[in-house]
Amino acid sequence: MAHVGEFISWLHSHNWDEFPEFTFPGDIPGWCTPQMGAMLNYAVSECLDDGESYLELGSFCGRSLVAALSNNDAHAEVIDPQNLKVADKDSAFFWNRTVDDNGLRDRITLHRTTYQSLVDDLPTIGVFLVDGDHSSGQTYEAVTKLQRYLSNNTIVIFDDYLIYGGHGQSVHPDHDVEMQWPVKRDVDRWTMENCHNVVPNAHTPWGTSQLIVHFKR
Ligand SMILES: C[S@@+](CC[C@H](N)C(=O)[O-])C[C@H]1O[C@@H](n2cnc3c(N)ncnc32)[C@H](O)[C@@H]1O
Repeated sequence: MAHVGEFISWLHSHNWDEFPEFTFPGDIPGWCTPQMGAMLNYAVSECLDDGESYLELGSFCGRSLVAALSNNDAHAEVIDPQNLKVADKDSAFFWNRTVDDNGLRDRITLHRTTYQSLVDDLPTIGVFLVDGDHSSGQTYEAVTKLQRYLSNNTIVIFDDYLIYGGHGQSVHPDHDVEMQWPVKRDVDRWTMENCHNVVPNAHTPWGTSQLIVHFKR
């Protein structure tokens, strides 16, 4: 039972243009903005219940992860195949550097695989960042597969909610075209199908926007 009400109150007590900013330690490649970092850090530091973990689907070089895990003792589960390249190195090289430089190794369980191939069970999750493959169908399938691990009252943050998509993305096997607004379509489908237990609360203006969802059982 993450403290979702507290998180929403905190979110709504700031103007978007005067929002707190997380200061990243060093130069970590990735897309997490300082404001999104502050939001993740508050959710994990202040709103997780005892025994709950933070779940990050899509960690890349650990930028959002370090924001989530700074100045608290929370545990994180990370799902990422780590096969993207940054310059001539795997993202795994930078992810491991981020984790070790910030002393986070003992607090993270890495599932180095796609969500599709995940076979491990996860512990109970109270805060969930969904930031994996943004092409159409992927977000919907991922959250549908992983929602059984979410506690009653989970803070779910969908990154890139308003990413445009369209030309260039991989086409989902069930679709004929490259979808526009692929994350929004997937999230809206999931929230509609689960409308008795999800409440979309806010979408933020940073990057291509994050949608905050309160998941209930
Ligand atoms: C947008 S990046 C994540 C950015 C990161 N959260 C940050 O703060 O910079 C997307 C990540 O999703 C991972 N990914 C792609 N497809 C995936 C899948 N099917 N399952 C799990 N992770 C996936 C990629 O390897 C990549 O690291």
